[in-house]
Amino acid sequence: MLDVDFVRSQFPAFAEQSLKGQAFFENAGGSYTCAPVIDRLTRFYRERKVQPYAPYRASDLAGAEMDEARARLAGFMGVATDEVSFGPSTTQNTYVLAQAFRQWMDPGDAIIVTNQDHEANSGPWRRLAEDGIEVREWRVDPETGHLDPEDLNALLDDRVRLVCFPHCSNVVGEINPVAKITARAHAAGAFVCVDGVSYAPHGIPDVGGLGADIYLFSAYKTYGPHQGIMVMRRNLGEMLPNQGHYFNADSLYKRFTPAGPDHAQVAACAGMVDYFEAFAAHHGVMGETPVATGVAVHDAIRSHEIKLLQPILDFAKTRNSVRLLGPAEAENRAPTVALAANVPGEALAAQLAEHDVMAGGGDFYAVRALSGMGVDEARGVLRVSFVHYTTEDEVQKLLTALDAVL
Ligand SMILES: Cc1ncc(COP(=O)(O)O)c(C=O)c1O
Repeated sequence: MLDVDFVRSQFPAFAEQSLKGQAFFENAGGSYTCAPVIDRLTRFYRERKVQPYAPYRASDLAGAEMDEARARLAGFMGVATDEVSFGPSTTQNTYVLAQAFRQWMDPGDAIIVTNQDHEANSGPWRRLAEDGIEVREWRVDPETGHLDPEDLNALLDDRVRLVCFPHCSNVVGEINPVAKITARAHAAGAFVCVDGVSYAPHGIPDVGGLGADIYLFSAYKTYGPHQGIMVMRRNLGEMLPNQGHYFNADSLYKRFTPAGPDHAQVAACAGMVDYFEAFAAHHGVMGETPVATGVAVHDAIRSHEIKLLQPILDFAKTRNSVRLLGPAEAENRAPTVALAANVPGEALAAQLAEHDVMAGGGDFYAVRALSGMGVDEARGVLRVSFVHYTTEDEVQKLLTALDAVL
């Protein structure tokens, strides 16, 4: 069983006076930051804030810490160190990637995008149509928001080079079967680009095991600093045209991140793994390899979240005034719950704030998903999202507030 007191002791926000009594349910927008990340960030700015990789001590430590972050995250995800890179955000990472595909593909080639994705893994790819690339849309079921892998079969043929889809949508919440979808795309000769932003906070996945060619997530929603993390598998990364400086083309991790990186934040990402390892050690689930530890942490987090999530879904089902988007069974989804009502989601969030519940309302840049399900885009949805540091008491507080507001 997850020791939530231990977990919360790792997040300074819970000891922060100004946040006391506030139940945080907008984690899908950005999580609280764990202590090791804040400590590393502070240490970097105080002791190592110099140009890294030069032959003097402060610089050497700075560069080594940046390398450590990449190596340890790669270990957790079951990929090679140079297959991991950092960018300013996931959205910036996909824009750079789309530019690489634009140069690599020929007119008449095709890509598949979904209308379940956040715009970050949709718009940049759709713009390839400007260069004669055929864009095919894999659509959600308008009732349920479900993305049916059977529907993908009809879209795949030998012209498709890339299939872009989310591990989990930030409004539907349903967990898509990444390994199965990837296997189908690969069998048809296509690569896949998976947006893991809404999934990774619920346990960093074994990306190597899933088989995805590109896997993206955002550290600031996964207890870390404001960075986009990108896995680019070697065979694809070496084939796509380099987007960085020409003389860096031989470094896989520099090929798709043309900007100079935010050194301090990159280094601080090692703190995310410090936290996950401390979590594993405390709960007695340390694995024999980093990837095994990652999987064990993921499983412990998921079972806690599933337990807390079901009452929220059950409550939503009993209310005629709201429509629950996505599955009503907790094990099939992330604890990111969007509710559509006859009033704007933002107004409902404001009412929840009066009950000391922090939630969000709007379209969450998932405009295509909302319109694909017939939700009024202007009204948007109320979204309540939590992670493993959330307690049963906070869920109870949310339910009481929802009962008053809906
Ligand atoms: C599912 C999903 N994908 C992508 C993004 C974009 O991430 P970033 O803010 O790092 O560009 C978000 C941000 O909300 C998201 O929820």
